[in-house]
Amino acid sequence: MIAVVLGTRPEIVKMSPIIRECEARNLDYFILHSGQHYSYEMDWAFFEDLELPEPKYNLDVGSGTQAEQTGKILTGIEKVLMQEKPDIVLVQGDTNTVMAGALAAAKLHIRVGHVEAGLRSFDRTMPEEINRVVADHISDYLFVPTENARRYLLNEGIEENKICRTGNTIVDAVFQNREISKKRANILDTLGLEPREYFLVTSHRQENVDNPENLRNIITGLEAVHREYSLPVIFPMHPRTRKMVEQFGMSLDGVSVMNPIGFLEFLQIESNARLVMTDSGGVQEETCILGVPCVTLRENTERPETIEVGANVLAGTGAGKILTSVGQMLSRTGTWENPFGDGMAGRMIVTICGGLPGMRKVPIKS
Ligand code: UD1
Ligand code: UDP
Repeated sequence: MIAVVLGTRPEIVKMSPIIRECEARNLDYFILHSGQHYSYEMDWAFFEDLELPEPKYNLDVGSGTQAEQTGKILTGIEKVLMQEKPDIVLVQGDTNTVMAGALAAAKLHIRVGHVEAGLRSFDRTMPEEINRVVADHISDYLFVPTENARRYLLNEGIEENKICRTGNTIVDAVFQNREISKKRANILDTLGLEPREYFLVTSHRQENVDNPENLRNIITGLEAVHREYSLPVIFPMHPRTRKMVEQFGMSLDGVSVMNPIGFLEFLQIESNARLVMTDSGGVQEETCILGVPCVTLRENTERPETIEVGANVLAGTGAGKILTSVGQMLSRTGTWENPFGDGMAGRMIVTICGGLPGMRKVPIKS
């Protein structure tokens, strides 16, 4: 039996190809949701858009400090794993849910598969970097998206036979949903936007938005981009960012702020944007796959492949650098190669898990 552990918006998106594959093959599996994300637009909206089955368990841990949240997830997951005794636990990415899920399973001697293993920003001030390193070092199967990721793991002494290059499941998710999004999403009409005639922004990274100076600089940069190009700047705002903007009493001039958008609509608004400014990991990957230039509002990235192929540039959070980076990236054509694989990652991962000893199919319901 496979336990698919997830808890946040990007994990739902990037686990969706694996869940679909388990469903298609009638495998014995279940979904365990930590409840790290819980607002409708960060959570259930994605199950609806991606037509995923309801999780068998939801721990409803909610928000808290790093330790509070991680601790609650750890004890909650342990209980479920002791009861269900799965053959393998799959976690995806770098959130607190991932580290807690991997740790709970490893301590119970249950095999752990880390999807999107081997990413490194080499910045240990980021909670995500700690989560990645811990998850990678206690995992039995490391499903890496790229050759870079494999090299990082080998350099850290992880055995080669644990590592399997699959590509990133985000490619599967984009390929599987791009056409559906074209048919079903209507957000450009709703917002009165013309393709390639607007900028899109997302930002939620703790080190950016919880720091008033960085957040102020980012907002100043976005306002400057709006003034320079006279194009709409669309900012579906993560709840963490909205909370901090309100707490610091900030306002955004000329930037259209709205609630987070569902995945199908986001794919549409993202693929038609002139350029995207973001500090999101998933959005850096998606823009690279979709051929849309990206300016990353960070000093580093664990997705260096996006920069190497010419799809992305690091701007940090300085307003001047954001403006010049946008100018630099606007001339990019979007014809770079996609470094994240061929969209078969979910299939490969489930094939490997399905072949493990003890794994069985669910009897087909009549
Ligand atoms: C988490 C992950 C981050 C990931 C992001 C995806 C960690 C350490 N961070 O960051 O790696 O990129 O998810 O979006 O695991 N909130 C709501 N509703 C929700 C969820 C959060 O209102 O459904 C608000 C709460 O005020 C909460 C804050 O957002 O305190 C931060 O949420 P949290 O899950 O702690 O971190 P994220 O910033 O979402
Ligand atoms: N996303 C979305 N709606 C939004 C913003 C993002 O559907 O309003 C999707 C996006 O397409 C990507 C994922 O959310 O698949 C990225 O999540 P996030 O930026 O929260 O996390 P990260 O990737 O940085 O961990």
